[in-house]
Amino acid sequence: MTDADEMFRYRSDKELMRFIPHRLAHEKKEIDEMIKMINSRIDKKESINWAITLKGIDVIIGTVGFVKINEAHLRAEIGYMLHTPYHKQGIAAEATRRVIDYGFDVMKLHSIEAIVNHENMLSRKVLENLGFTNDAYFRDYLYHAGKFVDANVYSLIKKDE
Ligand SMILES: CC(C)(COP(=O)(O)OP(=O)(O)OC[C@H]1O[C@@H](n2cnc3c(N)ncnc32)[C@H](O)[C@@H]1OP(=O)(O)O)[C@@H](O)C(=O)NCCC(=O)NCCS
Repeated sequence: MTDADEMFRYRSDKELMRFIPHRLAHEKKEIDEMIKMINSRIDKKESINWAITLKGIDVIIGTVGFVKINEAHLRAEIGYMLHTPYHKQGIAAEATRRVIDYGFDVMKLHSIEAIVNHENMLSRKVLENLGFTNDAYFRDYLYHAGKFVDANVYSLIKKDE
């Protein structure tokens, strides 16, 4: 809960949230509710999220984690977000790489997927740099901000590593 103020700063940033299929935060209490939900989903093993920080500085600058875990198929969906001042420094890639390793080595996943708004070129680049394959393109796949948008589904399979 101590991360709520910082999280609110970037979750209320309209530009940063442009491709995120969650509501833009308007009040800090929405973030408090979100953190409670994240913690409860971790307890139930439905998803898992980590805070991203700079080394040695205990301030959240983003999150990365598995937003959905499909236990039956040893597959999980990865998601990430980084506060804008920290973009273009390789931080998102480094944090996502660590979570991928955790997924394969500790959670024993077989594959990891990412579902990305087709127009989210920065996110698609992160995935491609990390070795993900663009497996599918779906029309009108996501309902976001009042309209349907196309999406790409990327995946990384353990044996491809
Ligand atoms: C998607 C997102 C996390 C990408 O952030 P990012 O900072 O561009 O990603 P990376 O960490 O991979 O950084 C890569 C850039 O840093 C540069 N860089 C600088 N120093 C670097 C270093 N030491 N190591 C690696 N890359 C470095 C790279 O050259 C690259 O720049 P380029 O794109 O001009 O070639 C960010 O745009 C974001 O938070 N967007 C909003 C949320 C979102 O859309 N999430 C995804 C939903 S599917």
